[in-house]
Amino acid sequence: MKIEVRNIYKLFGTRPEKWLDDAKAGVDKRELLEKSGHTLGLRNINLNIEAGQIYVIMGLSGSGKSTLIRHFNRLIEPTEGQIIVDGKDIMTMSKRELEDFRRHKVSMVFQRFGLLPHKTIVENVAYGLGIQGVSKSIRHEKAYYWLDQVGLNGFENQYPAQLSGGMQQRVGLARALATNPDILLMDEAFSALDPLIRREMQDQLIALQEKLNKTIIFITHDLDEALRLGNRVAILRDGELIQEGTPEDILLNPENAYVKAFLQDVNRGKVLTVGHAIKQPNVTITTNISPQNALKKLQHHGADYACVLESNILKGIVTHLDIIKADQARDKNITRYIHKVATISEGAELQSVFPQLLDNKQPIAVINQQDEFKGWLSRTKVINLIQ
Ligand SMILES: Nc1ncnc2c1ncn2[C@@H]1O[C@H](COP(=O)(O)OP(=O)(O)O)[C@@H](O)[C@H]1O
Ligand SMILES: [Mg+2]
Repeated sequence: MKIEVRNIYKLFGTRPEKWLDDAKAGVDKRELLEKSGHTLGLRNINLNIEAGQIYVIMGLSGSGKSTLIRHFNRLIEPTEGQIIVDGKDIMTMSKRELEDFRRHKVSMVFQRFGLLPHKTIVENVAYGLGIQGVSKSIRHEKAYYWLDQVGLNGFENQYPAQLSGGMQQRVGLARALATNPDILLMDEAFSALDPLIRREMQDQLIALQEKLNKTIIFITHDLDEALRLGNRVAILRDGELIQEGTPEDILLNPENAYVKAFLQDVNRGKVLTVGHAIKQPNVTITTNISPQNALKKLQHHGADYACVLESNILKGIVTHLDIIKADQARDKNITRYIHKVATISEGAELQSVFPQLLDNKQPIAVINQQDEFKGWLSRTKVINLIQ
């Protein structure tokens, strides 16, 4: 587990320890404030965040999202509980270790971009590397690279005010990535952007993550954004965790009326992507497999067809009948029996597959940006997710 959040309580006020028992006993946030003058930030939060995920924390304003994410780099210390990163409780880190942790392991992207107005774009991106003690030429080389990755080459010598909001946030993202952190903390990073630009930024983050495979903690008050981006989503309300799961879990099994009410406004066909409706293939084989071995594999799984992969790229499918033919013809492999299949990109909106699903009984392969095979599009999942 990359990050483990264990029994976190956070009370704001002058004597939080004194009121901790009330928080544990479940005293209501408003009631606690009235009787103690203390604000309940978080109550008994437990999360397991796996490496390589986009983990979304979602909730309305004041629900405790920023309080929680600031625990992850110890900008906030809990009243009680543990934050364990790569097996280490970050509360036990010395000043030195914490400094190192913040410079190398985590980066934050802020809602209001947080760029230095009197420094150029390239200097802004290189800033964290300067703190790491990286030499100027390497710093700039890396900054150029990351600006290119977020689609901003050519803007290196401009100043933040010369760029649009969306572009400034790309700079913020490049800056956060430049120090090569394992963990990216994004607190409402896209909330200040216009809907169209916001959508573009979401697409870009998904595409970057596909390559980078970071652990991204992404905060939003927008459920559409949460479901679209998150591998998992945690929903907070008044400092409490009220549901946690994959976007599918949340859409299909909202745990209470509060979550249900949120879901009513979600346009599922638009929010969910093809990637949410994948099923894994029963049988995969490579092109050089002998017909006998292919036959064994199919029979073992009781499958009608196998999908043929060459280093994660889908070549097509071969049917049970094809393989029997190949065997009878004494072919060395099944290459000439491969049928091409329709493909669709995992990032495509779910609603975009409806026409294809209606007039196509063949399997539809889901592929990522690198054309790698991710699985078959599951008709059942599409229907369950949409209705
Ligand atoms: N430094 C602070 N002092 C007192 N109360 C705070 C402080 N920071 C946050 N809070 C309170 O904690 C609760 C959660 O706030 P926050 O984490 O900022 O919510 P969100 O990011 O979800 O909008 C709110 O009730 C807020 O007023
Ligand atoms: Mg906040």
